[in-house]
Amino acid sequence: MSKEIKKEKILVTSALPYANGPLHIGHLAGAYLPADIYVRYQRLKGNDVVYICGSDEHGVAITIRAEQDGVQPKQIIDRFHELNKRSFECFGISFDNYSRTSLPIHHETGQEFFSDFYQKGILKKKKEKQFYDEAARMFLPDRYVEGTCPNCQFPEARGDQCEKCGSDFNQTELIDPKSKITGKTPVLKETFHWYFPLGDFQEGLKKYLDSHPEWKQNVKNYCYGWLKQGLKDRAITRDLQWGVKVPLEEARDKVLYVWFEAVLGYISSTKEWAQKIGEPDRWRDYWQNENCKLVHFIGKDNITFHAIMFPAILMAKKGYTLPDSVPANEFLNIQGDKVSTSRDYAVWLEDYLENFPPDSMRYCLASIAPETKDSDFSWKDFQTRNNSELVGILGNFINRSLTFIDKHFDGRVPQQKQHDELDYWILKQISEAPKKVGDQLERFRVRQALKAFMNVARDANKYFNDKEPWRTVKEDSELCGATLNICVQVSKTLAILMEPFLPFSAEKLWALLNQEGDIHGQNWFAAGKEFIPAGHQLAKPEILISKIEDKVIAAEVEKLKAKSQTVGKGEGKVSEEKSSLISFAQFKNIDLRVARVLTAERVENTDKLLRLEVEIGEEKRQIIAGMAEFLAPESMIGKLVIVVANLQPAKIRGLESQGMLLAAENDSGELSLITVDKEIGTGAKIR
Ligand code: MF3
Ligand code: ZN
Repeated sequence: MSKEIKKEKILVTSALPYANGPLHIGHLAGAYLPADIYVRYQRLKGNDVVYICGSDEHGVAITIRAEQDGVQPKQIIDRFHELNKRSFECFGISFDNYSRTSLPIHHETGQEFFSDFYQKGILKKKKEKQFYDEAARMFLPDRYVEGTCPNCQFPEARGDQCEKCGSDFNQTELIDPKSKITGKTPVLKETFHWYFPLGDFQEGLKKYLDSHPEWKQNVKNYCYGWLKQGLKDRAITRDLQWGVKVPLEEARDKVLYVWFEAVLGYISSTKEWAQKIGEPDRWRDYWQNENCKLVHFIGKDNITFHAIMFPAILMAKKGYTLPDSVPANEFLNIQGDKVSTSRDYAVWLEDYLENFPPDSMRYCLASIAPETKDSDFSWKDFQTRNNSELVGILGNFINRSLTFIDKHFDGRVPQQKQHDELDYWILKQISEAPKKVGDQLERFRVRQALKAFMNVARDANKYFNDKEPWRTVKEDSELCGATLNICVQVSKTLAILMEPFLPFSAEKLWALLNQEGDIHGQNWFAAGKEFIPAGHQLAKPEILISKIEDKVIAAEVEKLKAKSQTVGKGEGKVSEEKSSLISFAQFKNIDLRVARVLTAERVENTDKLLRLEVEIGEEKRQIIAGMAEFLAPESMIGKLVIVVANLQPAKIRGLESQGMLLAAENDSGELSLITVDKEIGTGAKIR
């Protein structure tokens, strides 16, 4: 029997998300969920697969956010790296390693590639004029400039890329450019940069693309479109402080272009993984091995960097595995509108997880995965899929089978019997299912794969209905037992086949079936073939997946509506006036409370800072406030004041501030404390 099955080596990556903000379901649907499903499937198949990701922590995306928040970039990346890593874990995204591009191992990798190219004389140094902000006294690379897209006229295009049409271009091609820092029109100032000669790889890339006719149509269209325009050399350095330093004396104030080093993050993350498992050279098995299949899951806005730039970089470096496939997904819209992170129009992962289980979203996103065109998420559709499909079809079959056995057979798997036609039919369905589902997954068709899986659950219900065990249990208990025996085998098959899509429910079902071992380490090909013996004791039945109530969904729809109203719909561009208004929901997000000042003192060696201890209801907090110039600490003690209670804690001069005190300020900077006009009690809400 055990003919040697050849293990495939597969390295799977998902785009490294910028650690400049939280993740939303659009991220999940594009680059992470499809990859995770694929990886879990490959693991069950017994292939040697490593799944790599990490935070993209450089570039202007990070520094702009830091400037907005008035903190150091390091604070931003630390916060969002941890947050995003956790969100992925909660959704069951099963990376083998989640690294960070701020780690030394990544900086070394990036510099090694640059130095190698430099020494081989591949790079071209060019003098050129770049946008410069005279007020801010700095160069404005990439997203530091915004303007109108030269390609589609989108008015909010970023300096390096247009979000709307996906084209990327030279900053100086932007129409009506403006500095993101001061809003002023930038001037041109001379500087120099090193260019990667992408143009020299035109031929090589054409051949490479031609050798992959199996790639998704959207990806091929993009790439051939690029080749047709003719590839141009690309600057791979920037005049910035934050990033991987260019390893040359003459380039002290320059860093590597974030896209040049971020893609190398896949390599450095694999190196980190290899170190962690105690085999520091193992990364070479994947990256320097022709027989390793390299697969990059990304969103469509990342196609050129993965299917053109990165392969060219790897060709130039020599000896590296080239991407075997770049399954890029399109975008996910929300209730008919584009996701807008700046306007908070999104379904954030952390918010979602407060109210719903991860598998329900995994199921919904897998069924509407934006594989060939943009797709739309709606809460109503989410609820229907959960209640009518997950609960109504899959959960229903499992539940009716297991409770039936519990009730009529003491929870033990009943005996087999001679099969009849219906039995043969369902056994055939389950034995063919692993291949049907697998064939779709091999081609990155998550939607179709999920359909094929759900068809098994549909057939299972049909089988149960047609066999009418509730009738046979009275007339012919042996026949009834045989039916339920098969229902158990179908359930086991479903447990294995659902693992890639619904890992948490699969684990639960595995426990309900009282199976040994880890569901995540089962054999895909045993599904539908290796059966649970008669007499086996099952666990007490429990509901696998719960229904979602109308009112929870209505609340989510309301939340989004409030956000979309504040931005105004229709015309595309949001007027300044409208976007400066906040919705009631946004206002309600600020938790304002009455608090009593218990103690107040100056912070040593500062002019402005006060350290206060306040009482908010049952709770005591420390608040550091910049009010000492105008308010004497002793005058504040005992007063009832207003604090922002849900402000993220911040360290000020090494002291943690757990909230903010409200005060009025006039034009000359004079402060007056805001208090309440009667003894209302601390903890009272301001509405
Ligand atoms: N951080 C990029 C984005 O969110 C993706 C980087 S993918 C990488 O669009 F491979 F370049 F790291
Ligand atoms: Zn555009």
